[in-house]
Amino acid sequence: MTDPEDLSGFLDLAWRRLDRRPGAGRDPLLMTLATVAPDGWPEARMVVLRGADRAAGRLEIHTDTATAKVTALQADPRAELVFWDAGADLQIRAALRVSILPQAAGRWAQIPESSRMAYGTRPAPGSPIPSAFAYDKTPDPARFAALIGQVEAFDLVHLGPRHRRARFLAADGWRGQWLAP
Ligand SMILES: Cc1cc2nc3c(=O)[nH]c(=O)nc-3n(C[C@H](O)[C@H](O)[C@H](O)COP(=O)(O)O)c2cc1C
Repeated sequence: MTDPEDLSGFLDLAWRRLDRRPGAGRDPLLMTLATVAPDGWPEARMVVLRGADRAAGRLEIHTDTATAKVTALQADPRAELVFWDAGADLQIRAALRVSILPQAAGRWAQIPESSRMAYGTRPAPGSPIPSAFAYDKTPDPARFAALIGQVEAFDLVHLGPRHRRARFLAADGWRGQWLAP
């Protein structure tokens, strides 16, 4: 059992839990991504975490460039990812500044054929259609984008026998600060 007062160990735990990319036999890491719509309204939706790079402080998501989240991020790159990790009794909130990497050179080749269908729906995702299935899913590499989230802050909540909460900021070198949960 690690020291519950160890702030840096708490941050280590979060990165360890995030660094479980989808792969053979592994469940995808599902999270909620919140963005700010151009009219200022908050928007949230489920996404799969595709990569976590602690050294670079980055989290990666894949999406279709024609979705509302891309429009939102073009206008305002600030976003938040939130994730409940039941296996660790841990809520992870990551405040991000997101760069949109269109066509994400090199990544398309690694996307399984079955997953490519997610990039290229016609008409564009969110368009009104006359009936439930009046759309086509044609994989289109030009519609694929990687969203690279530079983590600016983490807010971690651990629901152990006694709850713990801490904030970590990139700006102060991830020193960390305990917070009342
Ligand atoms: C379990 C689950 C996982 C999803 N993963 C992704 C994903 O990784 N990337 C993505 O763009 N959309 C994903 N979606 C679809 C989004 O939740 C959303 O419906 C879609 O991207 C359109 O969102 P937007 O109009 O807010 O941009 C997922 C949906 C579910 C239910």
